Amino acid sequence: MRNSVIMLVCLLTTFSVLHFPQLAASRYSNYTFPDNFMFGVASAAFQIEGGWNAGGRGESVWDTYLHEHPDFTADNSNGDIAADSYNKYKQDVIMVESLGVKYYRLSISWSRILPRGTDNYVNKEGVNYYRSLFKELLKANITPVVTLFHFDLPTPFMDLGGWTNPVMVDYFEDYARIVFTLFGDLVKLWNTINEPHVYCLHGYGSDYFVPVLNFPGIADYLCSHYLLLGHSRVYHLYDKHFRPHQKGKIFLTCEAFYAEPKDKNNITDVEAAERVLQLRLGLYAHPVFSENGDYPETVRKRINELSIIQGYKRSRLPVFTQEEIKLLKGSSDFFGINHYTSALMSSCPMQENWPVPSIDHDLGVFMETDPSWPIYASDWLAVYPPGFRKLLSWITKNYGTKIPIIVTENGMSDYGGINDYNRVSYFNEYLEQLLLAIYEDGCNVIGYFAWSLMDDFEWRDGYSVKFGLFHVDFDSPERSRTPKLSAINFREIVRTKRINFDYLKRPE
Ligand SMILES: *[C@@H]1O[C@H](CO)[C@@H](O)[C@H](O)[C@H]1NC(C)=O
Ligand SMILES: *[C@@H]1O[C@H](CO)[C@@H](O)[C@H](O)[C@H]1NC(C)=O
Repeated sequence: MRNSVIMLVCLLTTFSVLHFPQLAASRYSNYTFPDNFMFGVASAAFQIEGGWNAGGRGESVWDTYLHEHPDFTADNSNGDIAADSYNKYKQDVIMVESLGVKYYRLSISWSRILPRGTDNYVNKEGVNYYRSLFKELLKANITPVVTLFHFDLPTPFMDLGGWTNPVMVDYFEDYARIVFTLFGDLVKLWNTINEPHVYCLHGYGSDYFVPVLNFPGIADYLCSHYLLLGHSRVYHLYDKHFRPHQKGKIFLTCEAFYAEPKDKNNITDVEAAERVLQLRLGLYAHPVFSENGDYPETVRKRINELSIIQGYKRSRLPVFTQEEIKLLKGSSDFFGINHYTSALMSSCPMQENWPVPSIDHDLGVFMETDPSWPIYASDWLAVYPPGFRKLLSWITKNYGTKIPIIVTENGMSDYGGINDYNRVSYFNEYLEQLLLAIYEDGCNVIGYFAWSLMDDFEWRDGYSVKFGLFHVDFDSPERSRTPKLSAINFREIVRTKRINFDYLKRPE
């Protein structure tokens, strides 16, 4: 059972010996991570669990859609088995433990607990699975951070239009009530929703992501609107009825890439970059984390005006009631962000491939990456570490320091293999920027979760790109796991609380 730990220790020994002679000359980060800094690793149910129909689980839209459209993913794959964490969860816990981190962010598959999505039938086997997993984590002194909704909506809700239907707010609350009741004794850190923007833009506003609603400029904003209201409802449910005795915390996670002006001396580029940040991140962050609440005024104004020009009788961006604005404001104990990459922005009113209406058209921004930023696999993931620090400063400037930031995901993809020197550098360099953000810019960042614990099902990319600290052999029935160099390096950062840029250097 302790294979992974033994493997990690063996590899670690080999590399310490290799690198010992260089230690004297090692270059370290100038700062160290604060004593109580929350280091963790992250995963999500659909991406690792498999067991798609095991133990009474119902179907999520990703199951249903991929079974009907096997060529939707780059490698014609699906999540039926994935990394088989449904059966191998004890190994997962050992892997987390071997990294020395004290937190593990994972998600619950809604369909495993409520196979029909609704709370009139609870699946005991699914409940037992998660209780065993949480207990195993606690036994290893690892705190679970549990996401309620990470893209995998139970299929029956799609007949209601999924998250474009306001009734989803009620069903999400029903699900959350069950989950808090069943697991609240073991779980004290809850993440309501993962990346509403990615989910709604790609899944409802285009055909890039399941559920492939492809109703741009309208369904995407409805989805965002009701997800935000769902988040707020569940926050207050926890706050009022569970927090008093369970004493936990609950928060929202937003996708947060950094938008940099292509030419920082060009005012239209600067405005374009700000527009992107306000629409992609501000749309979710402003209602929850700002003083005044509601959607950002600039975003509201732009979508209202374009809607009228386009002949609509009202704005395509839904409107919150005063009561909803009040309930959303302050409804998150932490500011959760997933950060991977940055892009360069310039103003551009129209492009051939933009539907009208659409979020792209509403933004009116041409996005590109700097040729000097490496892309190792996923085409959307250009490596630009300074963008991380700039993003954290933007958040701090816009929303202050009162609500602590937790980076719930950060990582990079390659095409696999355990000698992942590029990932070692990625984590070193991004974490260095995080330290600079804390110590030189006064950003209140209290935690960091590496994405991902292991290679997994990466949505549209299937298994063709890899994000893991642990390699998973998807050709073996055991789905055997092996630590990569990045796992060894991350463990050293966690252990020493600082970055040694020479700890695992690519051999010359
Ligand atoms: C650390 O500080 C020194 C002196 O201020 C500076 O020259 C160096 O670039 C810094 N190193 C890093 C990694 O920031
Ligand atoms: C600023 O950038 C835009 C494109 O975003 C370009 O059309 C314009 O000519 C630039 N202005 C200056 C002064 O360079």
